[in-house]
Amino acid sequence: MTQALDIQHTLTKKIKPDEDKLGFGIHFTDHMFILDYTADKGWHQPRIIPYQPIVLDPAAKVFHYGQTVFEGLKAYKTEDGRILLFRPEQNLQRLNRSNERLSIPYLDEELALDALKQLIVVDQDWIPSKAGTSLYIRPFIIATEALLGVAPSTRYQFMIIMSPVGPYYSEGVNPVKIFVESQYVRAVNGGVGEAKTAGNYAAGLKAQEGATDKGYSQVLWLDGVHRKYIEEVGSMNVFFKINGTVHTPALNGSILDGITRKSIIQLLKHWNIPVVERTISIEELYEHHAKGELEEAFGTGTAAVISPIGELNWQDQKISLNGGQTGELSTKLYQTLTGIQNGILPDPFNWMV
Ligand code: COI
Repeated sequence: MTQALDIQHTLTKKIKPDEDKLGFGIHFTDHMFILDYTADKGWHQPRIIPYQPIVLDPAAKVFHYGQTVFEGLKAYKTEDGRILLFRPEQNLQRLNRSNERLSIPYLDEELALDALKQLIVVDQDWIPSKAGTSLYIRPFIIATEALLGVAPSTRYQFMIIMSPVGPYYSEGVNPVKIFVESQYVRAVNGGVGEAKTAGNYAAGLKAQEGATDKGYSQVLWLDGVHRKYIEEVGSMNVFFKINGTVHTPALNGSILDGITRKSIIQLLKHWNIPVVERTISIEELYEHHAKGELEEAFGTGTAAVISPIGELNWQDQKISLNGGQTGELSTKLYQTLTGIQNGILPDPFNWMV
């Protein structure tokens, strides 16, 4: 990086949590990274400091108009002590695509990657080593200008915080029950669905609450115009194995361009398993199920990696997938991807850094 990174080490290291009880995003490491933006200086003053609360003016734009973006990626410690990151450049490219959509200034990806690596080195003792665990890294940008006029902020902070995590679902890689949401929508084409921004997640909470109340883990999102075409599942991309071919909704502007999603597509192609990205209607999916052609369904994301779907409920029509069991392909994809990420399996795509 062109600007010298200042590192201020903590004087009081925290006690590390039990690796068997990490949960997701509960514990945070000893340090964090901060970089400031002002209109006159651009991005400046990169620094690693002890993890601490931040002070913001109550008028900071992030609180009022949601001008913020984030990313999520993981670091792994291999058995021989190396530290691996899964496709971090993809996260930083996507961060800038989100920035573009949210009128946040471009962030130098090399600078951000260098900061990320240095922060991980400082807190490397926090990378858990137990199977299924990793260090979840959360880079994010907030608009900090104290001004209530609705216009892009002139000040921002880019921060990176990190959390040792266990498996996203405490139950492990087990099939989840999914409620097909016909009332609320997550995003519409032309909106911000493609960006990794807070509002998309806030907009999803109401439906998720409803699903939870009905005994479902998550919702399957349908498109915002017709309530007909499948978009995502919870905060994940979604895949269906139908008659030996894997189908996933095509990126259409309202679907997040998931890094796990694109890695799964690459893996399937590598295995010569046919995979298509296209528009899939919920009606069509139910028809395939009725004909016995819907073999497996699963969500993909950084946090959970693969999350098999065991049951769908669309307008009170419940269908069970793969007998409610984790499918063969879901299992193979989970084992292969996590194997590559943990450095246990060869990495034919040079994904790991
Ligand atoms: C992921 O699957 O990694 C997500 O985007 C979920 C995250 C917001 C916790």
